[in-house]
Amino acid sequence: MASRRKFIRSAALTSFSLSSVDLLAGRNSSPQKIKNNPVVVSTWDYGIKANVGAWDILGKNGRALDAVENGVKIAEADPLCQTVGYGGLPDRDGFVTLDASIMDEAYNCGSVSCLQYIKHPISVARLIMEKTPHIMLAGEGALQFALANGFEKMDLLTPKSRKDWMEWLKSSKYSPEINIENRKYSKENDPMPGGPENHDTIGMLAMDASGNLSGACTTSGLAYKMHGRVGDSPVIGAGLYVDNEAGAATSSGVGEEVIRMVGSHLVVEYMRSGSAPAAACKKAVERLVKMNPVKCKSIQVGFLALDNQGNYGGYSIQPGFTYAVKSQTVEQVFKADSFYK
Ligand code: GLY
Repeated sequence: MASRRKFIRSAALTSFSLSSVDLLAGRNSSPQKIKNNPVVVSTWDYGIKANVGAWDILGKNGRALDAVENGVKIAEADPLCQTVGYGGLPDRDGFVTLDASIMDEAYNCGSVSCLQYIKHPISVARLIMEKTPHIMLAGEGALQFALANGFEKMDLLTPKSRKDWMEWLKSSKYSPEINIENRKYSKENDPMPGGPENHDTIGMLAMDASGNLSGACTTSGLAYKMHGRVGDSPVIGAGLYVDNEAGAATSSGVGEEVIRMVGSHLVVEYMRSGSAPAAACKKAVERLVKMNPVKCKSIQVGFLALDNQGNYGGYSIQPGFTYAVKSQTVEQVFKADSFYK
């Protein structure tokens, strides 16, 4: 135990030489002439608010990596956002367990899965990326790492989420909703511009003034999941992938299906082969529906993509998937096209 603690401490204190893992291929070091940058895109209506956090960094010529971390932290801290961070709906045993991942322009990445009691899992994921030789820490080990590095332990289950869980216990029926609409909040009481809809994972992709891409993805996962269940969000290539030479992609929806097809990596590869972002997302969704046509009739998966020129687009299985965009000229929520109409 003592040696384990020692390792955690030394991992926390030692900044592993990034030169060995910090691959420089594809990284831009000076401002680039790109069609549409800086720009930030993120999943669902509440991305509008999170994008403001990202723009605080991008608008001052900051780094895309800092922007996506700052942006998704807004959703993680919002108790009304019941699918991300603080206030997220718990698993069937009443535990709020969080998944998150982050990736920069040089293939550096970090993630946490099944992390409890920490308000900002995205920052733990970033620290894993920057201070350890690993990519993912899970469960108790991730918590120990976070606590050893100064993160505070807190109860993430809000009275509202506890009440919803107690209500769910009466039937204990596990059935993820296609698009969750939380209409109990009035628009006046809802701090989310864009309406009171309250959805799945927030995935955010950004390109900075230097033309570098980064992405972040964070969620409390499917409500009332089995304890220990991990979704696509912390799995690099599934819930998030970034390649400066091609583009970046993220996903929202039933994570098991996204993991099965390594969805975000697939979207990036379609962009590398010449597809525009929305077309790349569409091809990935069509592949998913072909893999499991029966199941896809009743589940939602949405992909969001940003290419290496700052073009963006999304596509989902079911109607209702939205994404928010902020750039120098656009601040808007778009409805993605879908396989089923
Ligand atoms: N896409 C989020 C999850 O399945 O956990």
